[in-house]
Parts: sequence; structure tokens; C-alpha cells
Amino acid sequence: MGLLADIEQVRAEFDRRLDAVRIRTAGQDADVETVEQLGVAFLGRKGKLAALFTRLGALPTEERPDAGRQLNQVKEYFQTAIEAVEEKVGSEKPAEEPHLDLTLPGDPIPLGTIHPVTRIEKQIKDIFLRLGFSVFYGPEVETEFYNFGALNFQKDHPARDMQDTFYIDEDLLLRTHTSNNQIHAMQTMKPPLRIIMPGRVYRNEAISARSYCTFHQIEGLAVDRNTSMAELKGTLQYFARELYGPDTRTRFRPSYFPFTEPSAEMDIYWGLETETDYRVTKGTGWLEILGCGMVHPNVLRAVDVDPFEWTGYAFGMGLERMAMLMWGIGDIRYFYEGDLRFLRQF
Ligand code: PHE
Repeated sequence: MGLLADIEQVRAEFDRRLDAVRIRTAGQDADVETVEQLGVAFLGRKGKLAALFTRLGALPTEERPDAGRQLNQVKEYFQTAIEAVEEKVGSEKPAEEPHLDLTLPGDPIPLGTIHPVTRIEKQIKDIFLRLGFSVFYGPEVETEFYNFGALNFQKDHPARDMQDTFYIDEDLLLRTHTSNNQIHAMQTMKPPLRIIMPGRVYRNEAISARSYCTFHQIEGLAVDRNTSMAELKGTLQYFARELYGPDTRTRFRPSYFPFTEPSAEMDIYWGLETETDYRVTKGTGWLEILGCGMVHPNVLRAVDVDPFEWTGYAFGMGLERMAMLMWGIGDIRYFYEGDLRFLRQF
């Protein structure tokens, strides 16, 4: 029976193409026809179904009612199937006339926050950029030479000891400070220069509320024809007041670093009112935030800069320490635990 077999065939083809259209509407394949095109191909005036209907007339009279019923059933089946897909597409596509309720509350988009170390790094960078410094980066995996030797550490200096330094092999180590960048910078650039060098450092220390095995520093270095301790002090005092406010009190204490001479440490007055103040400042009210000094002539010699022509000053500060001071954070381990209750406050 030709017509009935053809109806079956057209129906099977419709099902195949409908499946493809469904996948397309799910957004996976843009090369397939649209549901509108499918509708035209099967239900249109010149479509496949119309062609089958015209053949009804050629059938013997007794077969016509049956074939007609079948055709109508298939037609209805096509219509509902297409309508179902159209409804789905319609709900996904923006309607041509916006039945859009602008008064509905939006879906909240969860946003991350900036880590406090990143935030303080940005603030500190901005202050020094305003002073004419530029930014320089160096490696975290370092050789003895850059981390110690060129910085005038004697061979038997205790800081080279296994207790403080994570060694990778005899010569390679994780840098213990960002001062390695002083050497890289002066090998890459000729003085005069004024740079800051942020980065992560590593120390094999007992972990406590005050110290962690990794933390961040910002190193500063200025090399010019007549830098001075006075310029160093003025720069760092200005910096502290920019960061913590105009009433910030600072003090300098003499100190020792192999790569600076003279050397000093700068403290900031934290306060001495609460029990935490006592604990954090060890009962003095002051908190040490950086080491600094005039670049040692041996360091300049190590990078072929003439110490009789050039002088320099350098400083290095701990970012976690600065952030603790800024936001009253009592334990350095919070920075590394990834606890959302902590991070969401920033
Ligand atoms: N590198 C020293 C430290 O990690 C800090 C410092 C930098 C001191 C530059 C003087 C000059 O403690």
C-alpha cells in the first residue's frame, strides 16, 4: 500500500529531524534547521504532509477514510510536537515584546574579595609609585649568590643555616627575603634608580601567631649620586603616614644587616591600651615593620657599581605584619587558612 507506507516514512523522517532540532535548541549544534524550518518543511502549504494529502484523491474510495484518518493523526502529532519545542525555545529567547518585569529582585552573583595581602601590597605600591619609584620582580627560587653571597653575608652567617632556609640542593634555595631582587635589579638597570620589589619569601621557622613558613615582603632600593640616611628616614616616615594616617608615630632603632651599613629598623606606634596591644607589641606599644639602611659598599661592588660614585638606601617590610597593623588582625595564620569568615571581611 503506497500511501500508508509513505506516511510512515514521512513520520519517521520528522522524528529524526525533530530530535536534531531539540539538540539544537539545547544549544549544542547551530548547523541544524530551526523549529520554524521544520514546521514549514512538514506542515507548510508545500510541505511533505500537503503532498501526501493530495494523493488521497487517487486512492480507491474504500481506502480513503482510513488513509485520511492516518494523515490527520500524523498532522496533529506534528503540530503538538512542534508546538512543544517552540514553547521551549520561546522561553529561552528574549521575547520580541519584552514581558520583562524590571521590579523583580535580581539573582545575587557571588563575588570574591581581595585578599588582605594583595590589598596592602597595592596600597603600598601606589604610595611609592607616587614618589617616583617603579616596580621590579625577581625569582622565588634563588641561588646562594643572590640570596646571600652578593648581599655580603659571610660564609658562616647563621641565616644561611638549614634552620632558616629551605634548601632545594647545595646551591638552590627558596629566597628568605626579597633582597635578592636588589642584586637582580642592579644587574639589569644602571643607577640612578628607585624601585620597589614585592614578592613572596620563605623561612623554615616554627609556626606561631607571629611567624609563618611563607610570607610577603616589599623591598625598596634607591641608588643615586647623593642618597642619604636623611632621605631614607624622610621617605619611610612619609610612607608610614600615607598608609596609616597623618598622626602615625614612627621611630628608628639601630640594627644590623650584612647588606646595609648603617642599618636600622622602623617601628610604628600601635598603642598600649588593651591586652592584645600588650601581646602584639610585647608590652612596648611599638611594632617593628621594616628593616632598612644604607646599601653596603660590598653589595655595590658585587654588581660592578662604583661605591665612590654611587650611594644607595634599601628597606624591606613584611606585608602580613603591615596588614595586621592596618586591620587589627591578631594571628598571621589567618592569611593562609582560606577561611571564608576571615576573607569575606575584606
Ligand atoms: N631583608 C631584610 C629582612 O628580610 C630586610 C631589609 C631589607 C633590611 C633591606 C635592610 C635593607 O629582614
